[in-house]
Amino acid sequence: MFGLSPTGAVWCAYLAASMEAEMALEKFIINGGRRLTGTVQISGAKNSALPILAAALLTDEPCTFSNVPDLADIRAMTDLLGDLGAEVFREDREAKANGNGDEPSGDGSLKICVTDESDSHAKYERVRKMRASISVLGPLLAKRGKARVSMPGGCAIGSRPVNLHLRGLQALGAKIELDGGDIVATAKRLKGAEIFLGGPFGSTVLGTANVMSAATLAKGTTLIESAACEPEVVDLADCLNSMGAKISGAGSPRIIIEGVDQLAGANHEVIPDRIEAGTFLIASAITNGDVHLANCRLDHLMAVIDKLREVGVIVEKSNGGATVSSARRLEPTDATTQPFPGFPTDLQAQLMSLLCLSDGNSAITEKVFPDRFMHVAELLRMGANIRKEGPTTIVTGVKHLVGAPVMASDLRASAALVLAGLVAKGTTTISRVYHIDRGYERIEAKLAALGADIQRAADN
Ligand code: EPU
Repeated sequence: MFGLSPTGAVWCAYLAASMEAEMALEKFIINGGRRLTGTVQISGAKNSALPILAAALLTDEPCTFSNVPDLADIRAMTDLLGDLGAEVFREDREAKANGNGDEPSGDGSLKICVTDESDSHAKYERVRKMRASISVLGPLLAKRGKARVSMPGGCAIGSRPVNLHLRGLQALGAKIELDGGDIVATAKRLKGAEIFLGGPFGSTVLGTANVMSAATLAKGTTLIESAACEPEVVDLADCLNSMGAKISGAGSPRIIIEGVDQLAGANHEVIPDRIEAGTFLIASAITNGDVHLANCRLDHLMAVIDKLREVGVIVEKSNGGATVSSARRLEPTDATTQPFPGFPTDLQAQLMSLLCLSDGNSAITEKVFPDRFMHVAELLRMGANIRKEGPTTIVTGVKHLVGAPVMASDLRASAALVLAGLVAKGTTTISRVYHIDRGYERIEAKLAALGADIQRAADN
């Protein structure tokens, strides 16, 4: 009943056009060829912070979250929480507004307190801007007994069903209907259950987050089998446990949740963003640079580091982070994206940019989102040699990439184009950089501080 979105491509085109109409368009101008050196501070994890902020809906008490990145997606989530009756206060933004600094200077702290539970509708206008809005479904249902959340559509990385989220919540006793494009979920009190959350492409990250969050307030014990093992799920479980939840096994495929009657407020620090860190690892490697990543968890990046070392990049643990350098043309390799702890789909595009310049043929297979290859056509415009066969691309290394005007299509594809631009001969202009602003905090400032020649400009 709640299967694939049948109109993904049409919906995407409509969404891109309507979002652009609302936004001042900007582009990046990159003059390639600079070697990156120095230290970069990795921000808090977007994909951890989003379901964690939604978890504030599970309690009447104030929550404080630190190391929350200042990103378009985070602002979309706090706007949504505002609609749902929460008061949100961002300390570093307030400091900036008071003239205390040009850049966010605090620890990325957000204070959230729900003061009004009367409106439980996450409307289409919000959800269409950010699919992760679906993260409020489980918390609203568990705490308020009802939730109305616009059904997310597909996006540039492919069809994005939520059938597993709904199946999990139904197993907890929720009645779920579809009404006017909204998911309408109701339950007097959820009841613990045994739930298998595996799907055709493996586990589901936000599906696990939704069902786990909802089960914290269910009566009795819930067992989730085939749960997502991503560090973001562990971070959410740690946050919920600090609020009084009883969750064990997070980080493994079997999570057990003993329901409690109520949760208290939270005081939680979000983990560092492993995808931003991986992007900077590759930025250093692709420019033959020497970059230190501060605030970075190497244990969240083992598959990535293993792959980088295999092609000849030097990655060393240092001072609570990593130093990554490369001094020669890299070897080709084969890589397959998988759920954690495998190689992340969110770094597939960036790895492709790197392998475009390796010495031979590489194969990259996408097993999480088989259609996530929007970057291929743009990399071809920059002189890459890539052939796509179903969910696999064969990348033949070229001597150099050449700067060109290219188009950002989704968050990680855009990051791949930035990486290609850093090393391409000449000038690359990347339009529609609002995609990259969804998930990277001031990426151009961080890259410029490492020596890149990159500027943001209006895109007329
Ligand atoms: N799937 C289903 N049914 C569902 C849910 C998912 O079949 O009900 C399928 C998906 O179509 C996909 C696979 O399962 O083939 C995995 O999807 P998942 O549910 O894990 O994705 P998600 O939770 O919606 C999060 C991240 C994505 C990241 C994926 C995979 C957030 C906010 N988003 O999405 O991040 O790619 O997990 O790791 O956490 C990004 O940051 O650029 C991004 C897209």
